[in-house]
Amino acid sequence: MTRNFITGEEFGAFELGKLLERGAELKAGRGEGVGRDSLAGKSIALVFQRPSTRTRISFEVGVAELGATPIVLRGDEMQFSRGESVGDTARVLSRYVDAIVIRSGSHEAVVELAEAADVPVVNGLTPLHHPCQALADLLTLRERFGDLDGLRLAYVGDGNNVARSLAIVGELAGVEVVVAAPPGYQLEEGHGVKLTGDPRAAADGADALYTDVWISMGDEIEADRRRADLAPFRLDADLLAAAKDGAIVLHCLPAHPGEEITEEVLYSDASAVFDEAENRLHAQKALLEALLLA
Ligand code: CP
Repeated sequence: MTRNFITGEEFGAFELGKLLERGAELKAGRGEGVGRDSLAGKSIALVFQRPSTRTRISFEVGVAELGATPIVLRGDEMQFSRGESVGDTARVLSRYVDAIVIRSGSHEAVVELAEAADVPVVNGLTPLHHPCQALADLLTLRERFGDLDGLRLAYVGDGNNVARSLAIVGELAGVEVVVAAPPGYQLEEGHGVKLTGDPRAAADGADALYTDVWISMGDEIEADRRRADLAPFRLDADLLAAAKDGAIVLHCLPAHPGEEITEEVLYSDASAVFDEAENRLHAQKALLEALLLA
């Protein structure tokens, strides 16, 4: 049966642990070519209907490092930009490639694509979920703290797709995820996530503080209102001081210093954001192996 990675719930706790272990192994052995050619002879479509720096490049490099061929496609150069159905696109791509990674402005379209495809489909970000980001976040926590079980991660700001994916994979990994957001921006209940309107209460005892942009793709029309509503949730030095000694700062990037995070915190010694960005590569290589070699 074809396995997909759309929300992160497709993996169990044991499999997720193995995947992170493999991600760490691929990272440590990158210079020696660990994983080189593990997907030799395969082709993977990377479809981007929305802009991307990290997701696109980390997948393209990762696919190449595993010995497979990446085929990067912008949405506007494919026929579905001119009305071809998602289902037919999935059926046709399945005849050519061994997996499809897609970033889309419609979560429903990615689900439809996965239902019609005969090859694994990986969600490279939708408005509802960003599971590949959350995998890299867990890999970063693992390399900083070792055991994930019992860690506390406080997410502050907009309870968005990244917060939702952290809640899902955090539950699987035994990480306590607390989301602090103002009314109207809060994540729904579920996956053991704790919700609060108080960023300091969330940060109290946290091993990691996490934030994301306040104005995501598609939110531009509400920019002024979002900046005003989310200002009390800025990740600044005071909030970092409320976390545990040795707490790290995470941000999926791109960052807007002065908005959701101060420049001081973003570039502080506590910040692990560039390791986190690098870990997209290693975690996704492990994911592709898990989906294609199982
Ligand atoms: N974090 C993330 O998904 O970055 P990109 O939008 O650059 O891919």
